[in-house]
Amino acid sequence: MRKRYKKFDTIAKEFISNEKFMRIQNESHHGITRYEHSMRVARNVYKLSKKLNLDYISATRAAIVHDFFVNEEFGTNRGLIQGVVHPDIALANARGEFKINDIEANAIEAHMFPLSTVLPKSKEAWCLTSVDKAVAIYEYATNKFSVKRIANPVSYAVCLMFVYIMNFLTINNR
Ligand SMILES: [Fe+2]
Ligand SMILES: [Fe+2]
Repeated sequence: MRKRYKKFDTIAKEFISNEKFMRIQNESHHGITRYEHSMRVARNVYKLSKKLNLDYISATRAAIVHDFFVNEEFGTNRGLIQGVVHPDIALANARGEFKINDIEANAIEAHMFPLSTVLPKSKEAWCLTSVDKAVAIYEYATNKFSVKRIANPVSYAVCLMFVYIMNFLTINNR
């Protein structure tokens, strides 16, 4: 694990100065932009992975690019197919622009678990898939269904559930 302390903005700098990555600012996602969603997930992954004493730099980097794709890359294949395939496209795009390590690669590929067949192999990957789901529920609730009041408790409950599962599944592999 890297020991040197890094602020979120320092980690994010490399990505937000990349022209191809910043195309996600023009993509709609959960009623906001894909960039806003990605950065919300990344900031929460940064906080949670630091709190859990994980490799927060890899976890945050993976979170920033976990949805690095534009809709036109799917043509007419939207819906469930996009839900299953987009992590692979995000990983290919991330590898094309940045140096991605093994923890980051698995976390990006597995972030749609259990929809994807790739299992999250590290606590960092479990952290990303958990936070992504919690944030998605929050964003759907606030931007699409207008039930803001239940968004936070539901998000936290889902997040906690995944953190517990993560601990059970990875405790002997670390
Ligand atoms: Fe995603
Ligand atoms: Fe996401």
